[in-house]
Amino acid sequence: MSIPVINTPQDEGYEDPLDLMDEIDELKKEKDASILAHFYVDGDIQDIADFTGDSLKLARDATQVKTSTIVFSGVHFMGESAKIMSPEKRVLIPDMLAGCSLAESCPADQLVAFQEQLRSEGRTFDTVAYINTSAAVKSLCDWIVTSGNAQDIIERVPQDREILFVPDQHLGRYLSEVTGRKMILWPGSCMVHEVFSIQDLIRAKRNTPGSVVIAHPECPQNILEITDFIGGTEKMRRHVMSIDKPTTFLVATESAMIHAFEKSAPQHTFVPVPGIMTSTGETCACNRCPHMARNTLQKVRDCLKNESPEVEWKDYFQKARDVLDRSLLQ
Ligand code: 13P
Repeated sequence: MSIPVINTPQDEGYEDPLDLMDEIDELKKEKDASILAHFYVDGDIQDIADFTGDSLKLARDATQVKTSTIVFSGVHFMGESAKIMSPEKRVLIPDMLAGCSLAESCPADQLVAFQEQLRSEGRTFDTVAYINTSAAVKSLCDWIVTSGNAQDIIERVPQDREILFVPDQHLGRYLSEVTGRKMILWPGSCMVHEVFSIQDLIRAKRNTPGSVVIAHPECPQNILEITDFIGGTEKMRRHVMSIDKPTTFLVATESAMIHAFEKSAPQHTFVPVPGIMTSTGETCACNRCPHMARNTLQKVRDCLKNESPEVEWKDYFQKARDVLDRSLLQ
């Protein structure tokens, strides 16, 4: 998927980022809006946001926002979750097409069919969904987890029940390892974390003595096996902040995260681990999520100005709301 990003003065339609930021500040006041931005969107959007963070913090922040409008700069399921948890707010997202490969890998009808199959085999299980799912899928689940609270939630699932974990097989496998709970895994994966090049990571580690590998648990097992610190985005950020000695970190997660690392822990050097194109074996810049990259300052400005695109409330959001509230707020 190629995303045209207009960001250099040579591009047609270029707009000065500082002018855009001023315009956004004005529009925020005029429209009574707050901006929430995930760590994976461009640094300039993170810098103008009222709230930045990982999926867990932002889902909670969305319930605390004082303004009547939320602009959620991230991907679709994040805006949808904000709407579900704060139905009285207007939730705008800069680009409706900012989806998620994990959410797409688990359509609601396929999940229903699989749950029915397991029940017909006499299995008793709780369905635990990563937050990277559609609201329709959330409404079919017992628990929602983010990388930030997954271990705590899994410990709440009664021991006598099996766990069906959807949709991220790599996160599920990792959680199964750290919690000791056996899981039935849905075969989904994140297009960004799936493609880190193990060869390049090994080479970078060898060529940079003393470097420390940090990786998101959405990475496959072969990457996590040579990782020094595994954690979701906020856990990684806190980890690098906790180390005073200037260190080189090799970063196996979406590369926009480096902006948040550099702001929080400027004493360190952060090197993105490249991805690999499976078709050709060449390394590539696919450690940038094409969906997150759809968020631009122009689109943040436009969605505030046009009050669109907006996440509309749907009937099945209520069931998803019960699961989200129980999992993330209690
Ligand atoms: P966290 O925000 O929980 O680290 O997860 C990252 C992610 O998957 C965003 O889509």
